[in-house]
Amino acid sequence: MTITSDIKYIGVNDRNIDLFEGQYIVPNGIAYNSYAIIDEKIAIMDSVDANFKDEWLSNIKTALDGRNPDYLVVQHMEPDHSANIISFVEAYPEAKIVSSKKSFEMMKNFFGTDFSDKQVVVGEGDTLSLGKHNLTFVTAPMVHWPEVIVTYDSTDKVLFSADGFGKFGALDVKEDWACEARRYYIGIVGKYGMQVQALLKKASGLDINIICPLHGPVLTENLGYYLDLYNTWSSYQPEEEGVVIAYTSVYGNTKKAVIKLKERLEANGCPKVTVNDLARCDMAEAVEDAFRYSKIVLATTTYNADIFPFMREFINHLTERGFKNRTVAFIENGSWTPMAVKVMKGMLEKSVNLSYAENEVKILSALNEDSEKQLDALAKELCN
Ligand code: FEO
Repeated sequence: MTITSDIKYIGVNDRNIDLFEGQYIVPNGIAYNSYAIIDEKIAIMDSVDANFKDEWLSNIKTALDGRNPDYLVVQHMEPDHSANIISFVEAYPEAKIVSSKKSFEMMKNFFGTDFSDKQVVVGEGDTLSLGKHNLTFVTAPMVHWPEVIVTYDSTDKVLFSADGFGKFGALDVKEDWACEARRYYIGIVGKYGMQVQALLKKASGLDINIICPLHGPVLTENLGYYLDLYNTWSSYQPEEEGVVIAYTSVYGNTKKAVIKLKERLEANGCPKVTVNDLARCDMAEAVEDAFRYSKIVLATTTYNADIFPFMREFINHLTERGFKNRTVAFIENGSWTPMAVKVMKGMLEKSVNLSYAENEVKILSALNEDSEKQLDALAKELCN
């Protein structure tokens, strides 16, 4: 794939992966992107996952048409991109490795060597000329590891954005960008909104025509759309007005309340209502929804004087990613000493700027007249 006359795609599609980063299901696989900038000197931008050594080296060979690369630029040391540094060095022993100081320290830990005879250490604002193409390196700590750099090619106006603007899904599949980019962003980079904001600020000073991320498609048009979404996500603002109901139910009584609440929210004109059964859905999708919409209802049972485990896990995912700026409502169920609301509120004390619905729903085993009225009141309040 040709990106510009001098920049070629040399990445790979992984359709066999079971869990990305050991936890995310990726029904359409994932791409590990890598690029070759072909000039008087040749730079390879990042390597790929360990399982794709031969395919990647073959892609380099084909793209370079008999020439050898001069540099391997390592923007990020997570193994989905760095695993083949060693195989690159074996194939091209004359090439230099361009990376941040922290990356070389990580290489020592990963590979037992920091390639001291090949190092070109770069930091904020450093440049590398390939001939016609001038690369400027921009530090992007915690997007999504501390050593990350991104690279701007001022000749073709390309931003190589590391994990930023990445997405789940291999490149041989056509699917909506935002859906799988959001699940990727919230799950993987969501905790680091402040750092993403800092990177966006730096990027706003650059004239960018093309974004080349390490996962997902190369972005060539309507870049404002992607930049706006990243700004919304990284500033923890809701993307859409709507209510997401996240619940667990042991015998179906809490589920009945959730279904009734959904019906009443819709009857009251709520623009969008989404329901996730936390024991059965993809947890990353539920977490994505929580960050996407403006309001959330947490419905769960009291369990071992605590809450049902899937709800505990879910709330932990929210608070560790800096969940804020949302309205939260509660439905609790308990057959003898209901205390789920107290536990959930306690867990959410780690979050800031949440507003709580005045109406709560308390179920004592099964819905009754009182709890039905509470559901009505909550539906009205959330739709106002
Ligand atoms: Fe795609 Fe943070 O690695």
